[in-house]
Amino acid sequence: MPEQPVNDPASASSALPETNPYGGAAATGGPKRVRTRHFQNAKREGIKITGLTSYDMLTARIFDEAGIDFLLVGDSAGNTVLGYETTLPVTLDELIPLTRAVASAVRRAFVVADMPFGSYENGPEDALKTAVRFMKETGAHAVKLEGGERSAKQIRRIVGAGIPVMGHIGYTPQSEHGLGGHVIQGRGEGVQQLLADAKAVQEAGAFAVVLEMVPADAARQVTELLEIPTISVGAGPHTDGQLLVWTDWAGLTIGRVPKFVKQYANLAGVLSEAATAWRKDVEAGNYPDAEHSYE
Ligand code: KIV
Repeated sequence: MPEQPVNDPASASSALPETNPYGGAAATGGPKRVRTRHFQNAKREGIKITGLTSYDMLTARIFDEAGIDFLLVGDSAGNTVLGYETTLPVTLDELIPLTRAVASAVRRAFVVADMPFGSYENGPEDALKTAVRFMKETGAHAVKLEGGERSAKQIRRIVGAGIPVMGHIGYTPQSEHGLGGHVIQGRGEGVQQLLADAKAVQEAGAFAVVLEMVPADAARQVTELLEIPTISVGAGPHTDGQLLVWTDWAGLTIGRVPKFVKQYANLAGVLSEAATAWRKDVEAGNYPDAEHSYE
């Protein structure tokens, strides 16, 4: 992917690469890739960063072409793709092919691989091994792991090996049972721990940090404290960027979606209508007709 050098003034001044570069791709050799420095530029210039989860090449391509800045191959795949009740059973071997599919489909978006539960808690060496597998086997551009102060050593080790890390603090789904369920973090005195976690993640070298399910004012305090960008998942409007689980956002999730999710489509409804119409056509002998058959 051609890109301008880091010290190129044009590159340094544009917060994020063009979001609709496909028309000119043939002439220019393709869109510029989003890089970690663009996250930093965006924070400095007050431009909001956008992210969605993705677990396959079809959605990855659509979201990439729509100008979404980064795609997270989340361990939320446990709930959205693999049929588990929580993210806890998800393994590295399950996430690797999903991450490879997403990374292979994008041209501009920055792809973040989510480190699953059990693949980094044991210490920095385990964490580095997991991160290296993601980088060698998938084509992802960065990894994400949960935890603030408790994961700082792991973050430092991975960053020290040249792999960008996105932190994740506030509500951390892999600790669901330790946290006593889906509980908002950083309320009341909890904001002190949130701030300490945020500082720890930044000092360990993370290039950005996800804040999940924290009050908007606590997220504002973290955003003002940090030099690295903050990305909200249910953390209100004062962060540097926003991230959502795509199946929630597009109305594909069956059952309860969190309060912070605004649904931008009703894909479950669209697919259900299409499946019902097709079944009825087949049953009535209307599909396939001559137009959809070979001579
Ligand atoms: O796995 C995931 O999708 C996540 C986001 C909700 C932050 O970790």
